Amino acid sequence: MSPPLRILGIETSCDETAASVILRDSDGKGHILGDVVLSQLEEHSAYGGVVPEIAARAHVEALDTLIEEALLRAGVTLSDIDAIAATSGPGLIGGLIVGLMTGKAIARATGKPLYAVNHLEGHALTARLTDGLSFPYLMLLVSGGHTQLILVKGVGEYERWGTTIDDALGEAFDKTAKLLGLPYPGGPAVERAALAGDPQRFDFPRPLVGDARLDFSFSGLKTAVRQAAQSLEPVTEQDIADICASFQRAISRTLKDRVGRGLKRFKAEHGSVARPALVVAGGVAANQVLRSTLQTLCAQSGFDFIAPPLSLCTDNAAMIAWAGAERLAAGMAADGLDVAPRSRWPLDAQAQALLGSGKRGAKA
Ligand code: KG4
Ligand code: ZN
Repeated sequence: MSPPLRILGIETSCDETAASVILRDSDGKGHILGDVVLSQLEEHSAYGGVVPEIAARAHVEALDTLIEEALLRAGVTLSDIDAIAATSGPGLIGGLIVGLMTGKAIARATGKPLYAVNHLEGHALTARLTDGLSFPYLMLLVSGGHTQLILVKGVGEYERWGTTIDDALGEAFDKTAKLLGLPYPGGPAVERAALAGDPQRFDFPRPLVGDARLDFSFSGLKTAVRQAAQSLEPVTEQDIADICASFQRAISRTLKDRVGRGLKRFKAEHGSVARPALVVAGGVAANQVLRSTLQTLCAQSGFDFIAPPLSLCTDNAAMIAWAGAERLAAGMAADGLDVAPRSRWPLDAQAQALLGSGKRGAKA
């Protein structure tokens, strides 16, 4: 038994402004009391990607109101809050400054502790908020800026088993969509187009499949898509659908191989875990084809497949508040008000930086 904790979370690392109040009850269970997310999709869509300066300005304009709204929905005031948790990295530095400074200001004004949270830790611990999952477990984070396979051992204890050596998976979807003339963000557009396509028509490459390491690579796939599209000029709607379906098939096969190896490694190193689990997070986890591939893989390998609801897979502040709650409950020290935002901040400080991984540094 531990005292119930109410935490205010703030998230501004990329193109979502978010505020949330969560409760960690005395049994350690998580409850989302108030949660608001404002997407900046419209501000950025004309540019085909996130524009850092526009993002930072939009965070400034919205954050105060969103925090008020989250508190209101939770039915609490700042005096009921036990700590403030703000994303302080990795991400776009302008946005991080906005969220962290706001967190600091609230901490200063209320005298409450501040936790400067690693955004990736927010993703990594979400399955404990939603499903009360026990450590250790394996997480596949697939978003616009990251593609990582991470062993989650405990709060603050992460081992990166694999990462992309070039493009993140979401980035591969976005770039593929762009070169096929589909709208931004590319993932949902590619998935929609693929519904009418023939996944067997193109045999796209599956880089690193069979490789003993657990890393990922997607830039060759993107190049193959470009070459296929160029060879068909002018491309028809059916061509686009077929390319999208074949692209998703190549990714499915890649994930099956890479993640499959990760599951084997988990079993070899953590054989005593009674119910091993794979958690997926990140915007790409919305993709139904990839989800069902992972689900089947887990079923065949004796793993539980845990995909938190989509609103908690993509960027949100409830996961940041929860990470703060986990840190506070574990007796970890709060951060000083001099803590600095970090555009790069790997979860696993021991992991070697790989060429290109997280190179946009912007999105998680
Ligand atoms: O986690 P997220 O919402 O934002 C950050 O990257 O921080 O992920 C966004 C990424 C984008 O690259 C988007 O194209 C991709 O997730 N995405 C998808 C789908 N929905 C979003 N990719 C494939 N299939 C989808 N249905
Ligand atoms: Zn993220």
